[in-house]
Amino acid sequence: MQHFNELPPLGLYLHFPWCEKKCPYCDFNSHAVKDSVPEAEYVARLLNDLESQLPLVWGRSIHSIFMGGGTPSLFSAEALNSLVSGLRARLNFKPDIEITLEANPSSVEQEKFKDFRGLGINRLSIGVQSFNNKHLQQLGRIHNAKQAIKAIETAHKAGFEKLNLDLMYGLPGQTLGEAKGDLQMALAMNPSHLSHYQLTIEPNTYFHHHPPLLPTEDRIVDIEESCRELLEQNNFERYEISAFAKSGQQCQHNTNYWEFGDYLGIGAGAHGKITNVPEQHIQRSWQVKHPRDYLGLDVKTDATTSGQAENTAGTHILAEKETAFEFFLNSLRLVEGFDTGLFQARCGLPISFVEHSLQLAESKGLIDWGLNRIQPTELGLQYLNDLTGLFLPDAAE
Ligand SMILES: C[S@@+](CC[C@H](N)C(=O)[O-])C[C@H]1O[C@@H](n2cnc3c(N)ncnc32)[C@H](O)[C@@H]1O
Ligand code: SF4
Repeated sequence: MQHFNELPPLGLYLHFPWCEKKCPYCDFNSHAVKDSVPEAEYVARLLNDLESQLPLVWGRSIHSIFMGGGTPSLFSAEALNSLVSGLRARLNFKPDIEITLEANPSSVEQEKFKDFRGLGINRLSIGVQSFNNKHLQQLGRIHNAKQAIKAIETAHKAGFEKLNLDLMYGLPGQTLGEAKGDLQMALAMNPSHLSHYQLTIEPNTYFHHHPPLLPTEDRIVDIEESCRELLEQNNFERYEISAFAKSGQQCQHNTNYWEFGDYLGIGAGAHGKITNVPEQHIQRSWQVKHPRDYLGLDVKTDATTSGQAENTAGTHILAEKETAFEFFLNSLRLVEGFDTGLFQARCGLPISFVEHSLQLAESKGLIDWGLNRIQPTELGLQYLNDLTGLFLPDAAE
């Protein structure tokens, strides 16, 4: 029987499902925009979506907001202004709230960045991917290195002290020198945070059907080791599998996911996870996925009449074993691991509930299990899927 004593921090994720062009490697819920983005309709729908979910979080404050995509920066500052005002009118923001916006270097210009900052958006995440024009082209990106550099400079000038750059490595034909060159360039641009992702070939993408020639596993390992060294030398601490930050600059919103906190998800295909203390359970929910269907729903303006959220495609109450598995799926991504008390607080279960799996993970050298702390080892981080697999609900007892 789960027993929750406290509520975790609460974040808000907003999904923006359009991009100028669909990238061949991307399996996110993102669609190439045909004529223009239906900004006003989408903002109205997002706020309606939020209203229908408000009863799940009455009285709680919002710690962080993440506008992700897709490409949220396609939206005009006016549209985002009405959105942020609408959020403020409906939610209680913590005074030090972190508000992140994902931006694509090709679809933004200086004036928009400044205006975005003026709306209270205080963290920008730019999808650079590479500074090498050959690779940018192979990745089907519509920006070049010069535009990426300009976008970063503009973000600094606009006052974004919290600035993340997304870089990918293991690109088609990429050498160790090229991967290091990308990272050196990124470091020279003085971000506060770097997300360094290995390019993965996902089902249902163009690359899945037309696979490019990727570097060998040995080269990938060389790239990872050299890049980590470079990041460390530049005072970027690796705090999650792919996330590196200067001191105190960790992404609060994503850290809340990894610490199995709560979040509302609004927008096409967005997911949410909310702890319900009176009912003593955790509920997951997901919204109607295709933007056409999501937009096609009737917009209701009064939360009290909306009843069961029609933006919501489905909900699921997590069983105890699912709760534990999902906790480890997230928290074992954290390089420093977590206190056993966090498991108890977030899952409403004693740590003895997963004792067998923990013992197995420890015997395989995948975790260090101290008195009050569980931390993935180097090996555990390297074989994260195997490690988290030990916590699957149907894993051998
Ligand atoms: C959802 S995208 C949003 C950012 C923005 N639309 C852009 O691409 O500039 C977030 C990041 O996920 C990463 N990403 C997307 N697909 C990936 C893949 N197949 N392998 C590795 N990283 C990927 C990219 O670095 C991308 O910047
Ligand atoms: S990587 Fe970014 S720009 Fe490319 S399709 Fe995905 S979300 Fe859109």
